[in-house]
Amino acid sequence: EGLLPFEHEPYHTFQDEAVATRQRDAFRAVREAYAGRTFPLIIAGQDAQGDGTFAVRNPADTRETLWHFQNATPAQLQQAVAAAQDAFLEWRRTDPLQRASIFKRAAELLRARRMEFNAVMTLENGKNWAEADGEVAESVDHFEVFARETLRWAQGKAVYPMPDEHVTTVYEPLGVVACISPWNFPSAIPLGMALGALAAGNTVLWKPAGETPLSSYLMVQLLFEAGLPRGAVQFLTGTDDVLGDPLVDHPGVRMIAFTGSKEIGCRIYERAARVQPGQRWLKRVIAEMGGKDPTVVCADADIEAAATGIVQAAFGYSGQKCSACSRVIAEDSVYDDLLARVTEKTRALKVGLPEENAAIGPVIHQGSADRIAQFVEAGRTTARLVLGGDTPDTGERVGGYVSPTLFADVDPADPLFQQEIFGPVLTFTRARDWEHAIELANDSEYGLTAAFYSRDPHKIAVARRDMHVGNLYINRKCTGALSGTHAFGGYGMSGTNAKVGGPDYLFWFLQTKTVAQRY
Ligand code: SER
Repeated sequence: EGLLPFEHEPYHTFQDEAVATRQRDAFRAVREAYAGRTFPLIIAGQDAQGDGTFAVRNPADTRETLWHFQNATPAQLQQAVAAAQDAFLEWRRTDPLQRASIFKRAAELLRARRMEFNAVMTLENGKNWAEADGEVAESVDHFEVFARETLRWAQGKAVYPMPDEHVTTVYEPLGVVACISPWNFPSAIPLGMALGALAAGNTVLWKPAGETPLSSYLMVQLLFEAGLPRGAVQFLTGTDDVLGDPLVDHPGVRMIAFTGSKEIGCRIYERAARVQPGQRWLKRVIAEMGGKDPTVVCADADIEAAATGIVQAAFGYSGQKCSACSRVIAEDSVYDDLLARVTEKTRALKVGLPEENAAIGPVIHQGSADRIAQFVEAGRTTARLVLGGDTPDTGERVGGYVSPTLFADVDPADPLFQQEIFGPVLTFTRARDWEHAIELANDSEYGLTAAFYSRDPHKIAVARRDMHVGNLYINRKCTGALSGTHAFGGYGMSGTNAKVGGPDYLFWFLQTKTVAQRY
C-alpha cells in the first residue's frame, strides 16, 4: 500500500490565455508530426503492414484526411494471439512492483504530453478541449490507480484459519485479453480495460475503434516507452470481418473486455459462450454498453444547480457518452421553471469547431447525425419540440452537425424516452410527485448513471435505495466519473457492471487459487 494516497489529475484552465496558446500550438505540432502518415500494426513487438490501409478523417470536416492505419489480415490475427500467449508466459511472472513502476512511469510521461494527446483526440473524434482534457486527465488517473491496484491484489486475501492447515487465497491472471473499445473515449476507455488486464498479469490484444486509432497507438507506444515489454500488447486495427467475430471466437482468447453499443455487446456475450474446438476454458466477458440516463429533479431541489448539471451532462460532447443525461424527469410544480432554465442555457451553447473549443461540435459521422434526425422527426409528432431539431449552418464544412435539441412532455412509452439516441437530444417528462419521478427514472432497460436533485434527506435516502443504476449522483451531474473514486458501470442492459476504476475491477481479470497445506 506504499503508493497510497492519490490525487486526481487537475484539469487545464483554458480561460488562461497562456494555457490556450499551448493547446493551439499542440494542434499545429500534431498536424506537423502525424498528418498524412501511415501507422503500423504492432505484433510480437514488431511493426507490421496489413492488407491495405484505411483513412482516418476529421469528423469536424471530413474533407480532411488525418492519417492512415492498417487492415490486419486473418493470418496476422493468428500471429497476434500466438504472440500474446507467448508474452503471457513471462508477463504473468513479473513482480507486481515492476508492473506498478511501469504504470507510474507512464503517468509521468503522459502528464508531460497531455496537450498533444488532447489535440489528437479532438482531431479524431471531435471532442472540444475541455472534454478531451478531462479524458486525458482520467487516463493519467488510470495509470496511478492501476499502479496501486496491482500491488493491492498481489497481496491475496485472508481466509478464516484452520488449526492444522495453512491456507492462502491468491489471484492469478487468465491469459490473453481482447480489449475492444469505442471512439467516444478513445484514450481512457481502452486504457482502463488494457490496464485492468495488464495489472492482473494478462497480455492484451488492443483493438481501438476505427475512427480513433491514433489516440490508442500513441498510448501503446507510451506504455512501451514506460517499460512495458513490447510483447505484452498487440495493437490491431482493421475490418470487422477479421477483428470482429473471428477475434471474439478465437480459441486462444481467454477473455474479452468490451465497451460499446448494446447490440455489439450482446453479440459478443453470446458468441463468447460457445466453446470452440481447442478451447480450454469458458471465456470471460465484461461488456459496458449503453445508457438512457435520467436526471430526477424534486420540487425542493436547487433548480438552478439542477439546470446547470443537466445541460452539462446532456450536451457535453454532444451527448455522445453512455453516461450522458438524456431524460429529465421533474416534479410537476418545478417542471416549467426547470424547462425554461434548461432551454435558456442550451440556447447559449454555440455549435462550431472542436479545434476552436466550441461548446458543441459534430457527432462522429453523418450516419450518426442521420440516425439522430430520425428520432427527432418521429418526436415532432409525439412530443413538443422546444429547441433545436435542425441542422446548424456550419458553412462549407462537411460533418454531422446536430443542433442541441429539447423535447418536452415526452411520454414514457415514446422511443425518445426508451432508446439510446447517442446525440444532443434531451427529453423532459412530468412526474406527479417525486416517488412517481423515481418510478419513471427506473422505467428503462438500461441502468448506467442517474442524477437526483433534492435537499430532503428522506427523498435522498429513498433514491439511494431504489434507483436502479450502477452510478447514482445526488445533487450533481451524471457524467464525469473519476477513476479510483467513482467505479463506473451499470445495471440491466447497460452491461456486466464490471466497474472500471473501482476496487473490484481487477477481480474480473483474475482467477482465484486456494492452496491448503498440511505440514
Ligand atoms: N466514464 C465516463 C463518464 O462518467 C463515461 O464513459 O462520463
